[in-house]
Amino acid sequence: MKDCIKVGLIGLGTVGGGVARVLLENEKNLCARAGVPIRLVKITTLVMKNPLPFPLAEGVLTSDVADILDNPEIDVVVECIGGVGAALDFARRALSSGKHFVTPNKELIAKYGPELLAIAKAKGVNLCYEASVAGGIPIIHGLKNNLAADNVRKIFGILNGTTNYILDKMSREGSDFAPALEQAQKLGYAEANPTSDVDGYDAAYKLSILAGIAFNSAFRFEDIHFEGIRSVSATDIAFARRLGYTIKLIATGVDRGEGGVELRVHPTMIPVAHPLANVAGAFNAVFVEGDYIGQAMFYGPGAGSLPTASAVAGDVVDIAMNHEVPHSHPSMTTNFGPRKVVPMAEVQCEYYLRLSVKDQPGVLAKIATICGDLGVSLKNVEQPEAEGGEAELILITHAVREGSMQEAITRMNALPVVIKVESLIRVGLA
Ligand code: HSE
Repeated sequence: MKDCIKVGLIGLGTVGGGVARVLLENEKNLCARAGVPIRLVKITTLVMKNPLPFPLAEGVLTSDVADILDNPEIDVVVECIGGVGAALDFARRALSSGKHFVTPNKELIAKYGPELLAIAKAKGVNLCYEASVAGGIPIIHGLKNNLAADNVRKIFGILNGTTNYILDKMSREGSDFAPALEQAQKLGYAEANPTSDVDGYDAAYKLSILAGIAFNSAFRFEDIHFEGIRSVSATDIAFARRLGYTIKLIATGVDRGEGGVELRVHPTMIPVAHPLANVAGAFNAVFVEGDYIGQAMFYGPGAGSLPTASAVAGDVVDIAMNHEVPHSHPSMTTNFGPRKVVPMAEVQCEYYLRLSVKDQPGVLAKIATICGDLGVSLKNVEQPEAEGGEAELILITHAVREGSMQEAITRMNALPVVIKVESLIRVGLA
């Protein structure tokens, strides 16, 4: 039995700074819960906040990451630098030398999780990543441990706070994407380079991690279909509201049995009465449907320094509590083989289409013929505006194969009477 668990922290940015604060400020309680002292003994950072928001004992801060990775005294390495460059190298080095590794890095786990878990297993150490999905919400432990006896059939929700903040703002203020993004950047909700969030990467990494655990499978990130929110307009949000929906970036995983698993992230019109429609600002929420639990929703802060740090530090405590049992968190995702992901063309959804068309007789008939030929059944058709010889058409379909819908759009765009299919948004939750 060790008389102390020593922690080395790499990165002292938003999340790393929070982790240092929780480990130092709450040390007494963490140690009492773990049953063993937990000491943050080394920190390395490229970006030094001056002055630090908390005092550090002499010798804790180091400019050399080797003081953590090659330090035989250190039991647990916590990585808070993000990305898959240096972070991947540090993860491989730490685990290979028999150190536990804790990370909130979703890209690292989504892309290299199976490899890193295999090293952890071989070395009898833990790789913990609770904070990699939905920040402070305990969804990974929830799925891995608390729902381990259930069979999860569906998992869907809001996994990215930045896009939820932007869509929420667009919805409340009637603004378009670009000004809402600019405002989110000014207030620190969106990064200067917002691609990872607004183009859907971040939510897709998180879906890949959750689905791996929920469906006991190893998925390839490349197989996930993801779209961001750049194409969502104030016009579509207004139409959605009239139809009783709100638009959210929803990540969806559905077990279709032998057909495979549906994994997709895209803007979705969801009924205003659904609890996910009321997830506001930068919050996250995950719905899980299982054979025994029925439906459960996990809700809370999906980002932010202290909520994320709380989850990271929780993993450190967990490791300390279980340090006498080698590899106490069996890496469920490496115990199961690869699983087929349903190609997006085979996924069935209802669709909202908005078209700009010429305002003349017979247009609707031509569009309806294309839909009929491709087996696309229309549920609702509206023509809200007609001005200067141009009209807007809104079509809502019954559930149809994505492949048929895309072919219908190609054919509609080729009609001389169609100016453009302006938007396609999937309607409804899985
Ligand atoms: N940038 C993410 C979000 C948090 O907006 O939810 C970290 O994954």
